[in-house]
Amino acid sequence: MAMIAYKCPQYKVTVVDINPARIERWNSDDLPIYEPGLDEIVKATRGKNLFFNTDIEKALKEAEIIFVSVNTPTKTFGAGAGMAADLQYWEKTALQIRQYAGSHKIIVEKSTLPVKTALAMERILTSNENGIHFDVVSNPEFLAEGTAVKDLEDPDRVLIGSRQTPSGLKARQELVEIYANWVPRERIITSNIWSSELSKLVANAFLAQRISSINSISALCECTDADITEVARAVGLDSRVGDKFLNASIGFGGSCFKKDILNLVYLCRHYGLEQVADYWEGVVKINDFQKVRFVLNMLGAMFNTLAERRICLFGFAFKANTGDTRESPAIFIAERLLEEKAELVITDPEALNNAKIDLDGMNGKISYVEDPSKAAEGCDAIAVMTEWEIYRGLNYEEIYKSMCKPAFIFDGRNILDHNRLFEIGFNVFPLGKPHLTHF
Ligand code: UGA
Repeated sequence: MAMIAYKCPQYKVTVVDINPARIERWNSDDLPIYEPGLDEIVKATRGKNLFFNTDIEKALKEAEIIFVSVNTPTKTFGAGAGMAADLQYWEKTALQIRQYAGSHKIIVEKSTLPVKTALAMERILTSNENGIHFDVVSNPEFLAEGTAVKDLEDPDRVLIGSRQTPSGLKARQELVEIYANWVPRERIITSNIWSSELSKLVANAFLAQRISSINSISALCECTDADITEVARAVGLDSRVGDKFLNASIGFGGSCFKKDILNLVYLCRHYGLEQVADYWEGVVKINDFQKVRFVLNMLGAMFNTLAERRICLFGFAFKANTGDTRESPAIFIAERLLEEKAELVITDPEALNNAKIDLDGMNGKISYVEDPSKAAEGCDAIAVMTEWEIYRGLNYEEIYKSMCKPAFIFDGRNILDHNRLFEIGFNVFPLGKPHLTHF
């Protein structure tokens, strides 16, 4: 919404939320999320044509176009628990729109939703007594965290799906005209509403599948002395495959991939497509396997006992350039290490507050230290969880001196100079590559 306000001064954009504390932070100098470049855009537009408040009723009455971006977590209860999307917030919003709208509105699905949710929305909205017509269009968001502003400013594509009725097509065109203020028209694509909804789930499933594919091969590389970086390079140079998104890791995290794949799996099962469901569920299973494998590798390397050994986690965010820790593989790894009775020192430039919340109530010794070099002091091992750039440039000679010996590094992101670390004295365990040990 901030980007629309920034690029289109002719529109008035109002963001409403039921959470007053969050709205207050959007109105302050301390925005509730860390996203490079976002502060500048919000500062440039806030109070001019971008407004944040909690008056949902008024905003719904006044707006001509309503973007619905409420959360749709995985259902934790009843039918489809652990798989299907929990649509209660979505439904509540539909009811509010029906109650307060007062006139025709275009409703834009921004949240990622199961296929045919727009139909449910339409049914709720049209079951009103006052005969108001609503057009529901689907406009999924493809931005990634950490690069959100860049992705919004220069998107690969904008997708807008609608009903093929005259009023559906007209609503779709209105949205096209908003994006055309800054996105080249050939990158604004349109489709029917169900294709649009499904494309979002499938796009995330394909991206996550690439990571699980490369991670599964990283396990094989470790058994065969092949090198995952070399394999990924050789495979990715085939232009049909492409070289992006092939970095082996401790597993993908984030609020979307797992949730969206499970949603896709649930849909397939719903339609009786067991084989298709199993195929996509494999992407999540490999991701879980990769996290388990990482901890077991640590345990094996450190002579099968981690009790009372100090382990420093470099990074806790699910990826670099964000403070977000939702579904971060670091959470699972921290919990497993604590079960082994290891002591944890956690460092991250943006995610320490979230890490504290995530690990609150866990049994065991955990400390949180902002400076990575200080965090590693007195530790037996460093495990890289997040690919923050700062971890590449640290003074590892000094860090080595300050650690217990033998000192270990487990590079869960393959971002460090492994040969150099080995020369310094570390025992180095990269992912999907031969390890470098002094034993
Ligand atoms: C993802 C998609 O990339 C976006 O296109 C989509 O809009 C978004 O989900 C969403 O549905 O909201 P995001 O979760 O922000 O974006 O971050 P990604 O860059 O996709 O990274 C996801 C996870 O995969 C991270 O844990 C990252 O470290 C990991 N990853 C990524 C790898 O392990 N290896 C790679 O090569 C790339």
